[in-house]
Amino acid sequence: MCGIVGMIGNTGAKEVLLKGLEKLEYRGYDSAGLALMHENVNVHKEVGRIAALREIIPAEVDGTIGIGHTRWATHGVPSVPNAHPHQSTTGRFTLVHNGVIENDEIIKKTLDVPFLSETDTEVIVQLMEKHFVELGDVEAAFRKTLSDLHGSYAIAMIDSEDKERLYIGKNKSPLLVGLGDGTFNVVASDAMAMLQVTDQYLELHDGEIVILTRESATIKTLDGDVLERAPYTAEIDASDIEKGTYAHYMLKEMDEQPAVIRNIIQHYQNENGDIELAEGVRELVSEADRVYIVACGTSYHAGLVGKQLIERVAGVPTEVHVASEFGYNMPLLTEKPLFLFISQSGETADSRAVLVEVKKLGHKALTLTNVAGSTLSREANETMLLHAGPEIAVASTKAYTAQIAVLAILAYDIARANGKKLPFDLMQELALVATTMDSIMAQKEIFEELADKFLKESRNAFFLGRGLDSYVGLEGALKLKEISYIQAEGYPGGELKHGPIALIEDGTPVITLVSQPNTHLNIRGNIKEVVARGAIACTISMEGMEHENDAFVLPRVEPLLTPLVTVLPLQLISYYAALARDCDVDKPRNLAKSVTVE
Ligand code: F6R
Repeated sequence: MCGIVGMIGNTGAKEVLLKGLEKLEYRGYDSAGLALMHENVNVHKEVGRIAALREIIPAEVDGTIGIGHTRWATHGVPSVPNAHPHQSTTGRFTLVHNGVIENDEIIKKTLDVPFLSETDTEVIVQLMEKHFVELGDVEAAFRKTLSDLHGSYAIAMIDSEDKERLYIGKNKSPLLVGLGDGTFNVVASDAMAMLQVTDQYLELHDGEIVILTRESATIKTLDGDVLERAPYTAEIDASDIEKGTYAHYMLKEMDEQPAVIRNIIQHYQNENGDIELAEGVRELVSEADRVYIVACGTSYHAGLVGKQLIERVAGVPTEVHVASEFGYNMPLLTEKPLFLFISQSGETADSRAVLVEVKKLGHKALTLTNVAGSTLSREANETMLLHAGPEIAVASTKAYTAQIAVLAILAYDIARANGKKLPFDLMQELALVATTMDSIMAQKEIFEELADKFLKESRNAFFLGRGLDSYVGLEGALKLKEISYIQAEGYPGGELKHGPIALIEDGTPVITLVSQPNTHLNIRGNIKEVVARGAIACTISMEGMEHENDAFVLPRVEPLLTPLVTVLPLQLISYYAALARDCDVDKPRNLAKSVTVE
């Protein structure tokens, strides 16, 4: 949450920083700001999107050094005073920050200066000035300041008396240094922001600072010891992060799902067509007596499907936990637990907190993520990548289906390691899934009509299903509520009569999935129960289980893999419902991609 950019160069930094912030807007978009230094430091801040910030910066203002920020509010409402950058009282230091400082109130009491904002960030910059007055050395004061902070931070700081350096610091919040051609260097929360100027990046670890000049990037510990690190090439295709002709990233990303499944098949099979995982992953999974899946939001919903896959295919007991609960409510662990972290971004603070905890206990962890080199990937023993390409829309779509496909591959590998008989040819069935996805995506107008008919004017909606369908229903409800703001609930069909059916009244839309051969008759009974109470039914069934008035009939796929196709209608219906209600699909209110605060 929140995005940071910075640049030190010889030419105008303004346009690079604004373009970088636009690429980071998915991380938070309630307010934004930029500080540019040429002779003096000029700070511009605005509530709203980067477009609004662009508007208020006079054309003639630019600088060769700059820092920028796009905010997702944690301390204080979205407002100009609370927007970053923040400055120390004398104006000597200017700073942007992503993260949450836990001891800000304690530090604040030691600082005898007026505060202009409600943010923890202003506390950092004022503390910096205090330490500078005491120590007389900027770098030493910067290191001391960061040593005093408890919590998470990614920081970029300008010293108005020094046109040769930018100061960077990181702890538990993502930050990368981008290396230029010897005349400039940059810093950003995500490589995507600076692909416009470089594909060479330096990874930063927690508790490190960087002194960035035009020609060099010196990494140091908080004690001042210099560290050596080789750069890496960011393998992101610049075209992957553009919307192209699509109206929204979400639509583009939904459309990419068949190609992502094909990509996954390619990455996880050898020339004989057999599943092949890295040796390290094999060892981890073959040792485990129980799998503990830890994730949040959509990734948690993929985890629920993953549990079914691992238990039914591989026969290994599996639990699924919401990351933010796990740390405070840890279940009894078996002797050889394997922790499986599922995270599109690989940066989610709630999941990371659990990873840190289980590592302390000496347990092994495997991360399924879309982002190579992300925190959860670096800190786990092994990683399986989703190969989905950057996901930019806040509402996760292609990452969900990629997570399920990779979980199926993992389940197969565990099954093989344990000598289990494999129920079907997974790679062949995944190829069939990709073709089925193509055919669903080719019929978008049907889902646009369904959204118009069932959801455009609706206050609430229910998603029903049984077994795997009920997990996909949870994801459908999350998708709908987050982008259309319709109150939506997902329930196992049989559970409705134990309470929630009280909410069904004339016209309540109930969207039901019918794809599970062992429960399709039962769920039909549940549909009748809600229709008898006035609900309008929108039923999406699978070939062989269809009824005459179903809204859409999906081509048949292997029952264990149905979530990969049943979710597509729900994603599309949510998308078109949000459009029909004039909502900002890619940037829903109050949300941000990559939730880096606990
Ligand atoms: C919903 C959504 C969120 C994320 C959740 C976890 O569309 O995107 O619920 O799934 O914040 O994020 P990751 O997967 O990055 O850990």
